[in-house]
Amino acid sequence: MTALTLSTAGAATLRADALVIGVAKGAKGPVVAPGAEAVDKAFDGKLAAVLDALGAGGAEGEVTKLPAPAGLKVPVVIAVGLGSEPEKNESFDEEALRRAAGAAARALHGAKKAAFALPLEDASAVTAVAEGALLGAYAFTAYQGGDKKDGKNGKQPLAEVALLGAKPRDKEHKAAVERAKIVATEVNIARDLINTPPNDLTPEAFAAVAQATAKEIGLKVQVLDEKALTKGGYGGIMGVGKGSENPPRLVKISYTHPKAEKSLAFVGKGITYDSGGISLKPAGHNETMKCDMSGAAAVFAAVVAAAKLGLQVNVTGWLALAENMPSGSATRPGDVLRMYSGKTVEVLNTDAEGRLVLGDALTRASEENPDAIVDVATLTGAMVLALGDRTFGIMSNDDAFRTSIHEIAEEVGEASWPMPLPADLRKTMDSPTADIANMGVRMGGGLVAGLFLQEFVGEGITWAHLDIAGPAFHEGAPYGYTPKGGTGSAVRTLVRLAERTATGDLG
Ligand code: BES
Ligand code: MN
Ligand code: ZN
Repeated sequence: MTALTLSTAGAATLRADALVIGVAKGAKGPVVAPGAEAVDKAFDGKLAAVLDALGAGGAEGEVTKLPAPAGLKVPVVIAVGLGSEPEKNESFDEEALRRAAGAAARALHGAKKAAFALPLEDASAVTAVAEGALLGAYAFTAYQGGDKKDGKNGKQPLAEVALLGAKPRDKEHKAAVERAKIVATEVNIARDLINTPPNDLTPEAFAAVAQATAKEIGLKVQVLDEKALTKGGYGGIMGVGKGSENPPRLVKISYTHPKAEKSLAFVGKGITYDSGGISLKPAGHNETMKCDMSGAAAVFAAVVAAAKLGLQVNVTGWLALAENMPSGSATRPGDVLRMYSGKTVEVLNTDAEGRLVLGDALTRASEENPDAIVDVATLTGAMVLALGDRTFGIMSNDDAFRTSIHEIAEEVGEASWPMPLPADLRKTMDSPTADIANMGVRMGGGLVAGLFLQEFVGEGITWAHLDIAGPAFHEGAPYGYTPKGGTGSAVRTLVRLAERTATGDLG
């Protein structure tokens, strides 16, 4: 990953390939943001006027490249928009800083070193800029450039970021950067897993990644293979996975802290490819379905981040991994599965597979009696229709917990919205044959799925469900620190939730 350092050098003295500065939207045109004073001086104090003449007004997402004047040790200055200038005594919005740093890092793909001179008023601004730069620099190049003689795959991400204006000896600033590095690294690892094509990232391969990482950083890991899953009665996971040549896995990966007072369970939907099964998805709906393990990727990344941060809380990740394929051995619409909980499910649509693997994992996670369970899943197209492709839905059996997660997501710059679990929709999943069907009414399909999951959560356990079907995989043009493809949605929210649980500060 991109290297990140705190530098005490002045903006005019540091040698780099480019210098990144901020420009805000002022009442009378662009305003040069704090941190870029020396750069403005090199422009004879006319930087704002130059930007104005170039049509740069400071809007979010704006990236303007300027040739550097004599007096700077860089060839290019990159001015990134920060949105409206904050009122007196207020600071720049953290998410605006994160996105601006990300946009700059994206504009610097292929470069070696860039200095970032954005406004860093406090430690949280340092975290935001550091995270934005490291997330924006991300590129998935593992499968590109295979025919090149130098063996270099595609255009490489910006190699080095020097943050100017932070205080390298300040404890808080140092911690802010360390946290940003860990979180961004893990978000990028989730992105890599999501982007890895499904012929390579099978359930077995994903489990092997978890095992290798666990070994490396000293986490406990346990993998149930198809034999153990059958023996254990995991009818949901087996029912989804048995149509594939690539058998399913249930991975348990746990981080424990000797002084932990609370425990969290994160449960991730890990469908490494969702063809729909016998209820096959039509063309146009299956091209991006390698992303259907984004929940498991987020859970895995969050557990590893919690461990690397040394949080005083126990966090267990459950990855419900299976490939949903049609074949002679696949579950049919009409089949009845016996779930790990003992409940029977009539499978009416094999494309509603996420709730089947999650049902088993939720029951299993409940057996350990954690203080809360959060599941993360690309569960329904209905949630994408409801909230669009940048916002995830939050459902919960506890209104206060749902509100906490919503606020935490907002704090870390992830868009989310609380959604209800209307009890009346439960009866639309009534089955004449089994205890429940895996489908109900189409209207409110995301909530129906949430109600299905709720049936598998242990009595009295606080639980929330994040449906990330919209934001998990970005198909449009990159923006801010969000690339095309896997985004790492929910990782930052889960990590902050673990931090808040560790400090007993859930709001
Ligand atoms: N993995 C899909 C949901 C999805 C859709 C994720 C779009 C990301 C983008 C899920 O398994 C699915 O197919 N859900 C069905 C459920 C239906 C059959 C009840 C859906 O939403 O159409
Ligand atoms: Mn499906
Ligand atoms: Zn799916």
